[in-house]
Amino acid sequence: MKLAVVGGGSTYTPELIDGFARLRDELPLTEIALIDPSAQRLDLVAGVSRRMLARAGHPARVLATASVEEGVAGADAVLFQLRVGGQAAREVDETLPLQCGCVGQETTGAGGLAKALRTVPVVLDLAEKVRTHAPDAWIVDFTNPVGIVTRALLDAGHRAIGLCNVAIGFQRRWAKALGVTPDRLTLGHVGLNHLTWERAAYLDGEDVLPRIIAEGGEELADATGLPVDLIRRLGVVPSYYLRYFYAHDIVVAEQRTKPSRAEEVAAMETRLLEMYADPAVDTKPDLLDKRGGAYYSEAAVALIASLLGDRGDTQIVNLRNEGTLPFLPDEAVIEVPATITAEGARALPVAPVEPLFAGLIANVSAYETLALEAALHGGEDRVRNALLAHPLIGQEAIAADLTRLLIEANAAHLPW
Ligand code: G6P
Ligand code: MN
Repeated sequence: MKLAVVGGGSTYTPELIDGFARLRDELPLTEIALIDPSAQRLDLVAGVSRRMLARAGHPARVLATASVEEGVAGADAVLFQLRVGGQAAREVDETLPLQCGCVGQETTGAGGLAKALRTVPVVLDLAEKVRTHAPDAWIVDFTNPVGIVTRALLDAGHRAIGLCNVAIGFQRRWAKALGVTPDRLTLGHVGLNHLTWERAAYLDGEDVLPRIIAEGGEELADATGLPVDLIRRLGVVPSYYLRYFYAHDIVVAEQRTKPSRAEEVAAMETRLLEMYADPAVDTKPDLLDKRGGAYYSEAAVALIASLLGDRGDTQIVNLRNEGTLPFLPDEAVIEVPATITAEGARALPVAPVEPLFAGLIANVSAYETLALEAALHGGEDRVRNALLAHPLIGQEAIAADLTRLLIEANAAHLPW
């Protein structure tokens, strides 16, 4: 079984390799192609990946290449995990909106729009290469903003599913706290990528979320960045990204006094690359646990194993709405539990969504439609309309300023 990773030179890749090594019975890989335009990074990351696999006695061979065609040829699945413009572009996404009093974040708000504008054309181009050189492969997209990127891929007719680690993160953490294996715990997860709420947590079929909320104190506040009394009042657990909505002004004030996440990550990346260059390093460095990607390898392994092995289990993925949330268009992309078979992902029915959540979902979904229009067709007006539609921006004067700033700052990465 061959797996190709586009953006394989990412410092995150050893997290994936660690998952492939631990879960080799689930996913019997014989070849892993790491594809990346940066030869220097690729060399270091492929080196540590090979040492990790050798140490684990894993038989897969690692191909490192800058050629997408060569890397994806004959692959059964292709993972997209790229970042157009690297941490430097992320830094702009995280700081520029602050000038207008808006949250600076790489997937939420104006930063997320900038990222979509840079990323969608590149991803569509890559996906065409996959269609030509690996026509039967599944594309698993981790590339943010996952909701918009997945929608772009599906609209262009690709065999794609979007994936994020937020849901698996809650599932794994809560299973651990409950002292049970994760397979016994399923989540009532609903929303859009990076805009989700856990409305239930079924342990062997019984909803234990009320217990988790009643007993959880500090951990819940930590995991969500939100006050526990808000979580208790709502009776659901919002993802960390809801903090940018429910505590927008507090976050803006904090961001103004702190280094950006991009700066922190860039420093970690330098350190990680030094470690990968050390021939004695043949395990995943602990430093990687300071990144946000916990469990993303396990989510990837599970999804690919179920797609290729027709397992029919339930996983939380990004897929077309098709009536699952009746207040959204069929073509919208949502993040909910789905049955995964060789045919792809089929959403499970979702209980009616309360207005408090449905309103925001509908609003952000409409923004995503406009963001994709802007990414596909370009133009100041489309960018400005998308910003006007975003619930965290929404004012004409701010939308105008951000449009100008964001296009200027990203000019090198915009094809229009
Ligand atoms: C979480 C999100 C990912 C995001 C990551 C950022 O894992 O689900 O979509 O890319 O955090 O982590 P970082 O360490 O780069 O801040
Ligand atoms: Mn994510």
